[in-house]
Amino acid sequence: MRKGIVIHSHTGNTLHVASEISGVLTSVVEKVEAENEDPNSTDPIVLTRNPSVEHYDFIVFGAPVRGFSLSPVMKKYLEGLDLTNKTIFCFVTQHLKSPMFGGNRAVKQMKKLCESKGGEVMDVAVVNWSSNKKDELIKDIIIKLSKNNV
Ligand SMILES: Cc1cc2nc3c(=O)[nH]c(=O)nc-3n(C[C@H](O)[C@H](O)[C@H](O)COP(=O)(O)O)c2cc1C
Repeated sequence: MRKGIVIHSHTGNTLHVASEISGVLTSVVEKVEAENEDPNSTDPIVLTRNPSVEHYDFIVFGAPVRGFSLSPVMKKYLEGLDLTNKTIFCFVTQHLKSPMFGGNRAVKQMKKLCESKGGEVMDVAVVNWSSNKKDELIKDIIIKLSKNNV
């Protein structure tokens, strides 16, 4: 099975989780990037790095939560993909301690978007950066991915 990890990360939290996952999947981490990475900008998003997922069977997508929603850069990226016949794991990172403050909503948006593009989402996760369970939450992702033998 060909496995990929594609993320958007502005300040490095999502990248940190993705790097941990890359050790398990033995896949490289590919970043989605936009011309203007200012999270407060209202300019239309223009992607400057838009990784192809054509050659993958299994993909982990990761992104930050922005204003109780999925990062607009990841949203724009996913909107442009065809995920037919792909198995997917989605995760988001957020600052606040509870997934009720944006994480659940953002990861649900991510799942729905992947499914609307033909993908099958096997599971999702939220990592709460200011929670004292942060490391456990990351470990849970690693365990889920290892158990599923992907
Ligand atoms: C504009 C903006 C909006 C944010 N909104 C939320 C939010 O609604 N809930 C939350 O918990 N964290 C929020 N955050 C914090 C980020 O989700 C969090 O720091 C995330 O882990 C950053 O990921 P990154 O380092 O990969 O960019 C926001 C950050 C920014 C810059």
